[in-house]
Amino acid sequence: MKFITLNNGINMPMLGFGVYGLEEGAQCVNTVRFAIETGYRSIDTASGYDNEKSVGQAIRESGVARDDIFLTTKLGNGAQREGTVQAAFDESLAKLGLDYIDLYIIHWPCPGHFEAAWLALEKIQASGKVRAVGVSNFQAHHIETIKKTWAFAPALNQIELHPLLTQKPLINFCRENGIAPQAWSPLGGNRPLQERIFTSPAVSRLAEKYSKSPAQIVLRWNIECGVVTIPKSANEDRITQNFNIFDFALTPQEMTEIDALNENLRGGPDPDNFNF
Ligand code: A2P
Repeated sequence: MKFITLNNGINMPMLGFGVYGLEEGAQCVNTVRFAIETGYRSIDTASGYDNEKSVGQAIRESGVARDDIFLTTKLGNGAQREGTVQAAFDESLAKLGLDYIDLYIIHWPCPGHFEAAWLALEKIQASGKVRAVGVSNFQAHHIETIKKTWAFAPALNQIELHPLLTQKPLINFCRENGIAPQAWSPLGGNRPLQERIFTSPAVSRLAEKYSKSPAQIVLRWNIECGVVTIPKSANEDRITQNFNIFDFALTPQEMTEIDALNENLRGGPDPDNFNF
């Protein structure tokens, strides 16, 4: 496993397991347990995924020491709009049944509210119940806005990022501000985008060259870009496959070929225009 050191000195695995869409109960518990058995040590959930209870249960029952697992969860938009950030954090912690969270991030930048939410996260960080705080779906202008009043920069910004949306300017902006970039939907998220990425000449050729799947090529590209990545899968073969990306490397030329697939094409909502 490769690790990234966040701006407050803590280490985070570069590859994690995303649990969006896993149903609270046996499906989520068993899938997260399988991911941990496979070797994943970073799990990414959110209050909005409605599966924090099961994620916490799987972690507690995994037999792996709590401090060997990096757990991320996210502040929901409702609590952000209502200004009940501390209560939302406490509720996540209670549902997870854990003593602390490794990374707590603002899920979406709700206009008129994300500034106060960031200041509330800074306070939560001071409470010692979270090891790092960050943001998600923030564009450069959202970061510029919180920068005016922040005591410190977010540790990380989790954004939609895949070969059709490489986000190079935002990655550079984040790095200039000491903020680690992280990819959600690293495989493209929805089927049509994923198909286009997986069947592109660049990704297909590299999959053949390295005897890897297209998904493994894309995840390896993430890691070599220095981007933390959290593929989601509910399927044991694909969970295993997505973990096995540390036994080969892409050349700089091959990295450039994947970068060139960029079309600034989103599969998910636009952070400047969402209504949930
Ligand atoms: P499944 O859960 O059936 O494996 P992303 O993380 O980019 O949002 O992608 C998640 C989607 O990609 C899910 O639909 C997931 O389906 C699918 N997926 C995850 N890993 C792989 C893989 N290695 N190959 C093909 N599809 C994958």
